Amino acid sequence: MENTHNFLLPKTNLMGTGAIKDLPNQLLSFKLSKVLIVTDKNMISLGYVDSIERILKNLFISYDIFDGILHPNPTVSFVEDGLTYLKKGFNVFKRNYKLIISIGGGTNHDCAKAIATVGTNGGSINDYEGFNKVTKPAIPHIAINTTAGSAAELTMFAIITDQSRKVKMAVASPFLTPYISVNDPIFMTTMPKEVTASSGIDVVSHAIEAFVSTEASPITDSLALKAIRLAFEYLPRAYENGNDLEAREKMMFANTMAGMAFNNAGLGYVHCMAHQLGGFYNQTHGCYNAVLLPYVFEFNSPSIPEERIFQLCEAIGPITRNRIQAIDIIIDSIHELRSKIEIPGNLTEMGLKAGDIEPLSQNALKDISAFTNPRQGFVDDIIYLIKSAS
Ligand SMILES: [Fe+2]
Repeated sequence: MENTHNFLLPKTNLMGTGAIKDLPNQLLSFKLSKVLIVTDKNMISLGYVDSIERILKNLFISYDIFDGILHPNPTVSFVEDGLTYLKKGFNVFKRNYKLIISIGGGTNHDCAKAIATVGTNGGSINDYEGFNKVTKPAIPHIAINTTAGSAAELTMFAIITDQSRKVKMAVASPFLTPYISVNDPIFMTTMPKEVTASSGIDVVSHAIEAFVSTEASPITDSLALKAIRLAFEYLPRAYENGNDLEAREKMMFANTMAGMAFNNAGLGYVHCMAHQLGGFYNQTHGCYNAVLLPYVFEFNSPSIPEERIFQLCEAIGPITRNRIQAIDIIIDSIHELRSKIEIPGNLTEMGLKAGDIEPLSQNALKDISAFTNPRQGFVDDIIYLIKSAS
């Protein structure tokens, strides 16, 4: 019986408080003439871009800054604007960008991945929607992360909104994986409370969906369970006090481990629906996950082996050998965590309109995350889940 599991990650992952100090050594290993920084104006005003500029200047590496990412949920038009900037570098300065450095959260990393991919493969990012459509390596990419998190700094996915179709496209290919990820909690202390909450519950969603995925392996299981333990313990602390560096560091590790898990095990129906809701209403990704997660877990529970339900329950806190009790504890604990970090309790509060539920549900089942959900459903099941969370 074949039972293979590939495990993909960036070549190097700098992690922990002060990890950024190793970036100059890493940069020296590239023979760099010019770098494109992909970021947004908020990252510039927080001083994070300035700290990377200083590193580049000290190494005599020239750079340009593309800061045209205007809101969370990256769009095709942001990618096109970035590509225009990239080509300006090709034509005017006659010097190709040898490296892209993204600074920010998942939005900026995903946008950078798309720019890096189209930069070498040509065409438009829409041409690469789906799994393994990219045929050439992207421009090398270093992702410096400021949230915990989407884990986009270390995954092979880019989620880009095509506004013309109101669809969040998933582009997935090993070629999108950044060369180096940097997760230094020093870059996370200024994360606003609402971003701490939504990105933190995204971590929980990644870990739970990876743990129950049809592609889970013993390696992704151990990463997912540890991420769940850390997030349930430290997310409320990071939310209450953004300067709690211990809580920020634990959430950084939870983000990294959950990202490693889902990059290799895949996700499920929570992300299918959250992606499409984001395409329609442009609210924060993690908030959709927070609301959907308990309903999807209940829907999936008949397809999750009993021992795995007990392991998941134990990672959250209580130990029980009663299946029904364990499912109830998991569902109640997710609701409780969501409430503690003040995320709205239903999709209606996040703008869901009844008339959109059917097209949203149709799109959700086409999302690549659908294939690894432990229980396969039909459009009516997705409609039921969205209505349950409304
Ligand atoms: Fe996510």
